[in-house]
Amino acid sequence: MQFPQDWILDALKNSLYQKFGQIPFTPIVEPCTNPAFGDFQTNIAFILAQSLKANPKNLAEELAKAIGESPFFYPPEVGGSGFLNFKLKPKAYLDTFLAIRSDPRLGIEQTKQPQTIVIDFSSPNIAKELHVGHLRSTILGDVLRKLNLFLGHRVIADNHLGDWGTQFGMVILGYKKYGRPQLLTQRPLEYLEELYIKIQKESDDSAQIREEAKKELQKLQSGDPENRTLWERFVQASLGELDKIYQRLNVKFDFSLGESFYHPMLEGIVEQLLQKGIARYSEGAVCVFFGKSFPELEDNPLLIRKSDGAFLYATTDIATLFFRLQNWGAHRIIYVTDSRQKLHFNQLFALAQILALPVRLEHVHFGSILGEDKKPLKTREGTPVKLRELLDEAENRAYQLIDAKRKDLSPEKKQHIAKAVGIGALKYADLSQNRTLDYVFKWEKLLSFDGNTAPYLINAHVRIRSIMKKASLHGYNSTLGFTSLKFETEALHPQEIELLKTLLSFKYALCLASEENSPHHLCSFLYALAKVFHKFYELCPVLGAPTEPIRQRRMAFCECTAQTLSLGLNLLGIEPLDEM
Ligand code: ARG
Repeated sequence: MQFPQDWILDALKNSLYQKFGQIPFTPIVEPCTNPAFGDFQTNIAFILAQSLKANPKNLAEELAKAIGESPFFYPPEVGGSGFLNFKLKPKAYLDTFLAIRSDPRLGIEQTKQPQTIVIDFSSPNIAKELHVGHLRSTILGDVLRKLNLFLGHRVIADNHLGDWGTQFGMVILGYKKYGRPQLLTQRPLEYLEELYIKIQKESDDSAQIREEAKKELQKLQSGDPENRTLWERFVQASLGELDKIYQRLNVKFDFSLGESFYHPMLEGIVEQLLQKGIARYSEGAVCVFFGKSFPELEDNPLLIRKSDGAFLYATTDIATLFFRLQNWGAHRIIYVTDSRQKLHFNQLFALAQILALPVRLEHVHFGSILGEDKKPLKTREGTPVKLRELLDEAENRAYQLIDAKRKDLSPEKKQHIAKAVGIGALKYADLSQNRTLDYVFKWEKLLSFDGNTAPYLINAHVRIRSIMKKASLHGYNSTLGFTSLKFETEALHPQEIELLKTLLSFKYALCLASEENSPHHLCSFLYALAKVFHKFYELCPVLGAPTEPIRQRRMAFCECTAQTLSLGLNLLGIEPLDEM
C-alpha cells in the first residue's frame, strides 16, 4: 500500500535514475521541518552535490524540473540552499485515506524481510522487590516488542533475570543467621529484601561478614545442596511476586532465562576465547584487550574471569549472546538497560565485532526517573520507591479522579477505568519522553486530562467513540458500509486536510519509533492527532454537516481517527477505553 511519501520517493527515484543511472543509496523523504515550505522534503541534492562536486541548488532545480507535477503533488520547489520541497494535492490524501480506512492495520503492511529480534528487557536482579528504577526497562522493552511484532518480525522477549549474583550470597547468609520460615511464606520478597538490607549493612562494617557472604555464594555456585535448595526457594518466591507486577502491567515474556541458566557454559567460553587468542591472562585474571580499532576501549579491557576463578556479569553476557545466536538464530538483539551500562555493552559489542558474529546488537539505554528535587526518585524516608506501591498509588489516584467525575458508574466499572487510566498514565509519562534523558516524575502532570498524557489521549478516544454512538442513534452505523464514499476535494475544509495529513503520517511515526527504538515518536504523533482532531471537531460540524456527503465523509474521518488512536495506544500497552 502506497503512502504519499512513497509516491514522492518513487518519482524522485525515477528522475534520479534517468539522470544519473543507479545510485547506491535510497534518498530520504521526510516531513518538512517547517510546514510553511511544504509537506515533505529531501536533502538528496546536498548528498549528490558532494560526490559530483556540483552546486546543490542547481542540482535541486534540475531535479525539480525533471520531476514536474503529478496527480498527487504540485511541482516541487527548491528551498534554502538546495532542499527539494513537495506539497501534496488534497487528492493524494483522500485517495490514501480511502484505501486505509477499512484496513485494521491502517494500510501498514508487515515487513517483507522479517527478522528474528531478541529483546532483553526488565531483567531485574531478583531476591529484591522491583522498584521504580525497573519501570523504564520493563515498559520500553514491552513497547519495542509490540512494535516489532506489529511490523511483522519474529520477536523473542527474554527476561534476563539476575538470579545468580552477590545478592544471593547475602540472602542465604541472612537466612541462615536470622531466617524465619514463617515470614518467608507470609511475605516472601519483602522479607528477603529485609534480610538482604540487614546483611548489606552488616557487611559495610565487617570484612568477616563480607567474606561469609562471598563463601555462601561460592558454595551455591559450586553446587552445595543446602544452598541450592535455599536458592530455589528464594527464586520461586521472587518469581511469584514478579509475575504479579508483570500481570498488572500486562507485560509478557517468551523466556525468562536468568544468569544461572548460563553458569555451566562459562568455563568453556573463557577457555574458547583464550584458545582463539582473543582473551589472555593478566595478573592471574582473564581479560579481552581491545586494540587500536576500538580507541575508546583501549584502556578498558573486558574482565571475564577473576584471579580467584569467579566469572563476571560480562562472561554471562557472552554466553547469552552465543546461546541466542545458536538456538534462536537472532538477527538482532536489543538490550534495554539504563545508561550506566553503556561501557559494558560497548565492550560486549566490540567483542562481537572481533568475533565477526553475524548479528546486529543495540543498547537501548535510558536516563533516570527523578523526583521534584531533581534527584533519583525516592520515598520520603529516602528508600527506593517500590514498583508495587507506585502502581497502587497510580490506580488509587486515578480512581479518585474518575469517582469525582462519574458518580453514576458501578464500582467495578470505575475500578476498570481507574486501572486503565492509572497504569496507562504511568506508562505514557515514561514512553512520551526521549528515553535517553532523565525526567521528573509528577503525579499531577501525568494524570492530567490536558497536555501530552495518557488521560488526554484516552479521553480523545472516548469522545470520538461517543460521537459515533450518537451518530448511530441517528441511524448512521459504521461508515465502513459507505463503500461508494465520493469526496469532493474542493469542498474540504482546511482543518479536514490537516486531520487527513496527520492521520496519514501514522506509518512514518511508527517506523521512526521502531528504527530509533524510541516510542516517544509514536506518543508525539498520537498527541498531535488528538489535538488536530479537537480542532477539526470544533470547526467542522459532523452530525450537523451541511450536506449528506460531507456528513458521511466527516464521520469516516472520526472513525479513522478513533481507529488510529486505538491502535497506537494498544501498541504502547495502554487500553483505549470506550467510556470514561
Ligand atoms: N540484571 C541487570 C541489572 O539489573 C540487567 C541485565 C540486562 N541484560 C543483560 N543481558 N545484561 O542491572
